[in-house]
Amino acid sequence: MKLLVTGGAGYIGSHVVRAAEAAGHSCVVVDNLSTGLVKRISCPIVELELASPDSVSLLARLMREHKFDSVIHLAARKQVGESVQKPEEYFLENLGGLGNLLLAMREVGLKSLVFSSSAATYGMPDVDLVSEDYPGVPINPYGQTKLIGELMVKNAEVWGLKGVNLRYFNVAGAGASDLADTAALNLIPIAINAIKAGKAPVVFGTDYPTPDGSCIRDYVHVEDLALAHLAAVDYLVGEGQQFRTFNVGTGVGASVIEVLAALKVASGNDFEVSIGERRAGDPPRLVADVSRIEQVLGFRTKHDLASIVQSAWDAS
Ligand code: WQD
Repeated sequence: MKLLVTGGAGYIGSHVVRAAEAAGHSCVVVDNLSTGLVKRISCPIVELELASPDSVSLLARLMREHKFDSVIHLAARKQVGESVQKPEEYFLENLGGLGNLLLAMREVGLKSLVFSSSAATYGMPDVDLVSEDYPGVPINPYGQTKLIGELMVKNAEVWGLKGVNLRYFNVAGAGASDLADTAALNLIPIAINAIKAGKAPVVFGTDYPTPDGSCIRDYVHVEDLALAHLAAVDYLVGEGQQFRTFNVGTGVGASVIEVLAALKVASGNDFEVSIGERRAGDPPRLVADVSRIEQVLGFRTKHDLASIVQSAWDAS
């Protein structure tokens, strides 16, 4: 198949492109290169600001030229803290970009879209395993843009769009050293940077209602996540498929303390750990119910926490 991957030069997008190419698909990437790196990919790349007014005609022209079978839309701003400080930018870029993409797809009759969504749409769920039907309310502008984005995808059914929303849980690891997460905004890369600087990684709170007191998350290997996109594309090109939303996680939770213990093994370094204050807005537990994606897409993750942390360490 021929795929248009927006945000394909990013950490997750480049894994999607590499997995797609390995599966025999060909890709064209659209990316504004704000955080993306050209060196991560070898397919054609078009530098484009999706939220800019002229992007609809540029995208439509690109779509007519390449006759894509599907679009995988990852391009977005994704820093929760920044979204609280600059909500307008998040709404304009994330939703303006998606709106322009949908307008172009509608114009050329391209009707298959995989949308990069997030477990941030759930806010502060109070269940052991969060299913896609959980009535979550996002607690920050980033999560709000993802939830509204999902609705935009759903609304486009009116002109025949078949869309899949993938709600990513905590994405980590690397499929190759040149695809590593260079941003260091999440626990595993932050902790790796700390260790390399000879500093103690900080646990944000050990007084949560969890077995060891630290927060529990569902860490999913970025290579597994990339394959979930391909499963979604395969699903969409099948006959009679409908708009669906899927969690992408492992269904297994790990606490911050367990992640750092895995990192001690991966790095061979018995580093000190510092216990800090809670960080505002952290749910104690956020773990995916993965039954829908397993049943409908036949998709299962392959990597466990040890493999995620080892690959992140090896790529750092
Ligand atoms: C994980 C756990 C921290 C750093 C975020 C977004 C979410 C999604 C994924 C995009 C938490 C703890 C962290 C540190 C720590 N993004 N922590 N010490 O907040 O679960 O999810 O990324 O879709 O929307 O909110 O990820 O990696 O920041 O934190 O103890 O130095 O690690 O408190 O419990 P989070 P994270």
